[in-house]
Amino acid sequence: MTNNTVSLPFGPDAPWLAPLAGYSDLPFRTLCRRYGAACSETEMVSAKGLVFGGYGTERLLGTTSEDTPLVVQLFGAEPEIFERAMPILLERGFTHFDLNCGCSVRKVNKSGSGSALMTRPELLLRIVGVMLRAAGPGNVGVKMRLGFTPEDENFLDLGRRLEDLGAGWLALHPRTGKQLFGGTARWRAVGELARAVGIPVLASGDLFRAEDAARCLAESGAAGVMFARGALTDPMIFQRLKDILAGREPSARTAAGLAEAALTHIRLCRELDGTPRGFRAIRAFLPRYAKGFTGIRALRQALLTCHNWVELEAMAGSITHLAEDLAAPESLDLEPLELTQDY
Ligand SMILES: Cc1cc2nc3c(=O)[nH]c(=O)nc-3n(C[C@H](O)[C@H](O)[C@H](O)COP(=O)(O)O)c2cc1C
Repeated sequence: MTNNTVSLPFGPDAPWLAPLAGYSDLPFRTLCRRYGAACSETEMVSAKGLVFGGYGTERLLGTTSEDTPLVVQLFGAEPEIFERAMPILLERGFTHFDLNCGCSVRKVNKSGSGSALMTRPELLLRIVGVMLRAAGPGNVGVKMRLGFTPEDENFLDLGRRLEDLGAGWLALHPRTGKQLFGGTARWRAVGELARAVGIPVLASGDLFRAEDAARCLAESGAAGVMFARGALTDPMIFQRLKDILAGREPSARTAAGLAEAALTHIRLCRELDGTPRGFRAIRAFLPRYAKGFTGIRALRQALLTCHNWVELEAMAGSITHLAEDLAAPESLDLEPLELTQDY
């Protein structure tokens, strides 16, 4: 049953969790919401996988009543497939959708999907047209890059055309497709897009700390931000941004906070995805949270010795203990994450 009453939050103090293949699963989305994420996107879902019952699609669509508002992100390059995929999603009660025009992973681009779609604007618009006809005007957004190559930066033209078509919002990761994660995100371009269209524009790109997001909002005039790698290191980043915007000192990034987040995340994983996959997933998250703290080696070591959920929870308890000795980081030297095989 479709629930058309859900509306999406847009605003500087309504940060979203970005789509993160391999990471923005139900437990992580729930954790981020508890720390202030106003909206979340799913990991990207293959439109083809949905239609033909591809491996893993079911897990990607798992959700709960707490996991709202939720945007399902789709990727693909065939309008006919989207014609078939959309009714499946609407039937299951999903209301908002995003077309992935930003992913630059070779496997995705090779099929003409992700940022490669930006090289075929007519096709891109046809797909969004199909999605909009199914979901209704305003219920579809597009996440894109500047263009596929620096010579072909067509985000402004595409943004205007998408608005005319009825898209509800745009999200821009201001790098080219070819650039992957190299160089720096051009937040100025987010401002150019925000001024060129009347629909909300969300900024993505190099928002590693809440302070980065506050600066990006001020520099670009974007309607809001989407946290990606920043949330993978610090799921409390959403609340910190809200604090900054409200003129409050954001709480310090402490080891006690880290331990609390770790324990909550472990429990959510166990409850919502207590599978071996869920267990592997949480073990991959935890060292990232501790990035920048001293004692991370001990944490990694402790994780290696955990073979079940009970041991993992006990270990998180010992992080709290260990935490008292941890020094807050002076700098958060973040490297772009290695992308998972799935992405
Ligand atoms: C591990 C990983 C997975 C990602 N998966 C997706 C995805 O499924 N769909 C998408 O549109 N973007 C995806 N992205 C891009 C992010 O949503 C975001 O736009 C990008 O990381 C830039 O933001 P950041 O520099 O603040 O991390 C992914 C990025 C990373 C690092």
